[in-house]
Amino acid sequence: MMKKFLEQISEEVMAAFAQAGYDAALGRVSVSNRPDLCKYQCNGAMAGAKKYGKKPIDIANEVAAGLQNSKAFSSVEAVMPGFLNLKADGAYLASYVEEMLHTEKYGVEAPAQPKKIVIDYGGANVAKPLHVGHLRPAIIGESIKRIARYAGHEVIGDVHLGDWGMPMGQVITELGERYPELVYFDEDYEGEYPAEAPFTIADLEEIYPTASGKCKNDEEYRKKALKATLELQQGRRGYRALWKHILNVSVTDLKKNYGSLGVDFDLWMGESDADPLIPDMIAQMKEKGYAVLSEGALVVDISREGDKKELPPCIVQKSDGSSNYETTDLATIQWRERELKPDHIIYITDKRQELHFTQVFRCARKCGLVRESTELEFLGNGTINGPDGGPFKTRDGGVPRLEFMVKEIEDHMLKRLRENEKSRGEEPQPEETARQTARITALAALKYGDLSNQLSKDYIYDVERFTASEGDTGPYLLYTMARIKSILRKDAEAGGTKDAALGLPEEGAHKALLRSITSFSQMVESAYQERAPHKVCAFLYQLANDFNSFYHGTKILTEPDEAKKAGYITLLRGVLGIMEDSIAMLGFEAPERM
Ligand code: ARG
Repeated sequence: MMKKFLEQISEEVMAAFAQAGYDAALGRVSVSNRPDLCKYQCNGAMAGAKKYGKKPIDIANEVAAGLQNSKAFSSVEAVMPGFLNLKADGAYLASYVEEMLHTEKYGVEAPAQPKKIVIDYGGANVAKPLHVGHLRPAIIGESIKRIARYAGHEVIGDVHLGDWGMPMGQVITELGERYPELVYFDEDYEGEYPAEAPFTIADLEEIYPTASGKCKNDEEYRKKALKATLELQQGRRGYRALWKHILNVSVTDLKKNYGSLGVDFDLWMGESDADPLIPDMIAQMKEKGYAVLSEGALVVDISREGDKKELPPCIVQKSDGSSNYETTDLATIQWRERELKPDHIIYITDKRQELHFTQVFRCARKCGLVRESTELEFLGNGTINGPDGGPFKTRDGGVPRLEFMVKEIEDHMLKRLRENEKSRGEEPQPEETARQTARITALAALKYGDLSNQLSKDYIYDVERFTASEGDTGPYLLYTMARIKSILRKDAEAGGTKDAALGLPEEGAHKALLRSITSFSQMVESAYQERAPHKVCAFLYQLANDFNSFYHGTKILTEPDEAKKAGYITLLRGVLGIMEDSIAMLGFEAPERM
């Protein structure tokens, strides 16, 4: 059982507090907010002063005296008005890091009670191509899923396709206008429907916007589309068959696009999968008196005492009897509850959907669709903005498609890669290899550019900045990793060094690197608890900086002392391994060379 580093050094200080006759809990150590003075600190003497009626500095002095022989610290100082400034001992740090390197996940241990978590993310809608608005929910959800898994939980990712609403009716209507002779529209037809879809993905991508445009301008058309939606939901055979085609064609394309983003789902379920549960759910809601008629629609009052703003009731069935976004989300909660029994369901979408989720969660609780213990959590992501601060648009003002954004950033990385080869005077890599590297690094640039921001904040999409090889970027991390890989390759070519004791770290960069490493398990825990991929990013950036400072000041392969060199090589393998696990939590990987 490996403790977190801060916990482990806290125990030392807590024991010293207890030894001096004070409450041990005062001995909690934190990372110092004055790194110029010391790297760790304890403020317990300040907190204890009142309780014990003593001056803080007196308590601090007593505790410091008790810690003089501690192996954990090379220096313990009581400073006015009563802080304890702590410096970790080099040998102690090295032995902690060594222990980490001998565990499977660098000190991250399985929780006593792993949770079963469903993550609902991605937000894709059938018949519509993925666009800029889908980038964040996909990237963030994928990362949170991976972080939670690394932290030891069981996680099921579900794309929850938008496949049951008005857009389906719109596409069916437009197909009916164009090809009324298709057998799907013949209500008397009783035979089998063709296995092959009567349209391609390219057709769909043109048909849907056309239909949705017509709905806005033509009331007759809109009514038709509404009717088609209702008929589809009520089970009209030909429409169901057509809808299956729409679903298949679309999902094939979505899988390809999510795949190239390194995003994959365990479940490809959709709103439609909740459909069979809807009639019973609605009947129950009515029977128990939760759902009442209001202007023809069925609504559930979800307001609560103490609400600062009045929340509109949750519409669970529209007046024409069709279901809406709320209905399918509610029935999906019921499905998940029955089939998966999760401890927790996390939803990730644009923060503008917050009201929807507040309504759905409250309604689900009120109507008893989930156990009390099932946590429902909404994570609303911020918007991706353009350089002018407004929503990010294409040059002609349209909504940028995800495929093209990925392609653009790949092309950019390829250009950079070629420039770097030239400036280093290297032989150009073959086109295919270079493309492959550009693809991997582009994904890192894109994902890191996104995830390094707090997820609820907006950020500006800036390809130049994301792809830069210096600074807080994905490519910078990958360069650092490529540097380590190159050293390890050279070492292997020269016969290979066996793992060895890390040895006593030198003061400065070497020790700083060890300190960074020790915070790994703590970081994973906070990133999981706080749903904060940006913490993984901050950890990586610090680690890469610390590694590079160490590298610039240290002879590694040319170190004449064999034991020392072996310690360095072992450390490098550890840094690389930790970086690899960390970037995997962000959802990207590193190329062999850059
Ligand atoms: N398809 C939805 C949209 O485009 C997002 C789905 C989010 N998940 C959910 N369970 N509602 O807005």
